[in-house]
Amino acid sequence: DISNDLDQVAPTGPAASALVRALHGERSDRLPVWFMRQAGRSLPEYRELRVGTRMLDVCLEPELAAEITLQPVRRHGVDAAVFFSDIVVPLRLAGIEVEIEPGRGPVFAHPVRSTADVDRITMVDPAEVAAAAAPIREAVAMVCRELGDTPLVGFAGAPFTLAAYLVEGGPSKEHLRARAMMHADPESWHRLAGWLAEVSAAFLKAQTDGGASAVQLFDSWAGSLSVADYRAFVAPHSTAALAGVTVPRIHFGVGTDRFLTDMRLGGIVDAVGVDWRTPLDEAAQLLGPDVTVQGNIDPALLQAPWPVLEAHVHDVINRGRVARAHILNLGHGVPPDTDPEVLTRIVALAHEAGV
Ligand code: CP3
Repeated sequence: DISNDLDQVAPTGPAASALVRALHGERSDRLPVWFMRQAGRSLPEYRELRVGTRMLDVCLEPELAAEITLQPVRRHGVDAAVFFSDIVVPLRLAGIEVEIEPGRGPVFAHPVRSTADVDRITMVDPAEVAAAAAPIREAVAMVCRELGDTPLVGFAGAPFTLAAYLVEGGPSKEHLRARAMMHADPESWHRLAGWLAEVSAAFLKAQTDGGASAVQLFDSWAGSLSVADYRAFVAPHSTAALAGVTVPRIHFGVGTDRFLTDMRLGGIVDAVGVDWRTPLDEAAQLLGPDVTVQGNIDPALLQAPWPVLEAHVHDVINRGRVARAHILNLGHGVPPDTDPEVLTRIVALAHEAGV
């Protein structure tokens, strides 16, 4: 019976990749590896292409964004591309005045601090972001055509990490103003975070419509929150950002070991990204058998002599065996001064060491 045979046909293309299978909880014969911030300043070919351009302008030039996304895949042989963009791109698409200052990070012309500021910003319909995201869809589609069987990971910023920049007006250490708003004016906070969730969701949808095989939500600064504040003021909005996504979901935070199980967002998440502070076997035990772990090579050790780094990577791989499946990655992004040869060696090691 032919129809019966067709039902048995294994997936092909990116759906059959080691990364997507790991997200579904399957261990294949290959340990998938990619690096957060693999596209960017560690690559000389990136620095060359970026001369005389502004970061956020490049993000909205489909051909440039596509080319930069592909650079680390060609060079390192990683098992996934991560879309070259930034967490603040959907805010720019919403008409918010934002620039990325080199060496500093996102800076906003008008910080969003008062109820009136929140009123002003949330007037923009997130549907407008979806409409303005055509260059994103186009860049993603170009990347996916080039990638063939290699999956593309799309991403967005989680509402708290975006608010940490937006309320402060720029980078800050402890995100005091965003955390203060939660308690001083909870109604405005929830309105702002709810709006940011919709904007990030629109950005994710543009990427999955373009062909991304998985998405990662970055809550890079969630570690500054208390467990109680994370649960009351943040987790529901991160859940909303990911709820409508039609591909596997990865959720990543830094310093979130105190509430790692909350990072599963009630079970809608397929993988949790773990920073370098929590040994991966401990993380896997905490998270349980229904979620894949991603991580967690210490970015600091990229500067260590190779035998030291090699032993560390083996240790991470061994600890990852406790989880239902493991995606090898760093515990946070590639530092800009990393020797790219080191990343290439880690990929080779991961593929030799196997699963
Ligand atoms: O390779 C990839 O991971 C994809 C590209 C990517 C960028 N930003 C490109 C980028 C991704 C996934 C991001 C997400 C992002 N942006 C996060 C979450 C990830 C994390 O690292 O925690 C955050 C917090 C931001 C905000 C942001 N944008 C910062 C803090 C900076 C660094 C500023 C600096 O110069 O040190 C940026 C700028 C940025 N985003 C660069 C790149 C390649 C550097 C811009 C340049 O080349 O001048």
